[in-house]
Amino acid sequence: MRNKIAAYLKEVEAFSAEKPEQLEEFRIKFLSKKGLIPALFADFKFIPAEQRKETGKLINRLKTEVLEKIVQLKDTMDSQNEGVGSGFDLSLPAMDPLGSRHPLSIVRNEIIDIFSRIGFTVSEGPEIEDDFHNFSALNFPEDHPARDMQDTFFIEKNPDLALRTHTSSVQVRVMENSQPPLRTISPGRVFRNEAISARAHCIFHQVEGLYVDEGVSFTDLKQTLFYFARELFGEHTKIRFRPSYFPFTEPSAEMDVSCNICGGKGCNICKYTGWVEILGCGMVDPNVLKSCNIDSEKYTGFAFGMGIERITMLKYQVNDLRLFFENDLRFLNQFKSAR
Ligand code: DAH
Repeated sequence: MRNKIAAYLKEVEAFSAEKPEQLEEFRIKFLSKKGLIPALFADFKFIPAEQRKETGKLINRLKTEVLEKIVQLKDTMDSQNEGVGSGFDLSLPAMDPLGSRHPLSIVRNEIIDIFSRIGFTVSEGPEIEDDFHNFSALNFPEDHPARDMQDTFFIEKNPDLALRTHTSSVQVRVMENSQPPLRTISPGRVFRNEAISARAHCIFHQVEGLYVDEGVSFTDLKQTLFYFARELFGEHTKIRFRPSYFPFTEPSAEMDVSCNICGGKGCNICKYTGWVEILGCGMVDPNVLKSCNIDSEKYTGFAFGMGIERITMLKYQVNDLRLFFENDLRFLNQFKSAR
């Protein structure tokens, strides 16, 4: 019997298989109910008592070697066959990416793209801002209602600091730090003490624009924003300006675009006027230039500011602002195919 086992051990040691079927045959030969190893155990009782211990050990060794061989050969086959025939098809196209870009990021990036094509850079500023950059330098009078606690989140420990109420603060920082020609846009988050509803939120996003150089006029403003509106909403988009007031621009205007939903015929989005307001703008007030140490005799400029939420709502016909902040996947997944 010992000789038999020794021969089996040699056979196991020498065995190799390339196909799973060969391996299965090997397993059946040694381990199945009618296989060689159970047969050895069955013959065990005929062995003289003094040889049993030694022989038992040998049979167990044989069993272990067979099992190890099977595992080892299976591993080699798996690693050789990775991809092919192993349940994976490596030639299949990749799955849809799990995430999608947030609609506000999509629109912000599009706005940045449009302005960078005509030479605007991107500037950023802090979300916690001081009174000078958020208000004073922008020509807000001491008693302007925007400075009121009702609109602005002040920082309790330092009443000179507040969460910025608009990204116009960044134009002050840009002008302080560099001289014209300046052409920049500033996207960012802003904060106002507003009750949350379908049309208002205490946190939202704006893009500010600034262009300062010699001889900049309202015509430049109009042409730049006309280009912008057509790029964003389509080439048939019309624009119109209505006189308005902002402390930091003079003259000031609000710009409407022809309603991109009904094409200007009138619908409930444009309240049947055919027009929707998208931004505020104007010629930079000379007082603002002076506050930022820019020669207001030599230079003129225009500025504009828009809300990203509002533009996204128009572009994608979203009717409740709160959707942008809830991160409901049923909403976000609808933007998977957008840029
Ligand atoms: N800062 C204004 C706001 O938050 C938007 C704005 C209006 C910015 C006119 C401008 C501008 O630069 O010229 O409502």
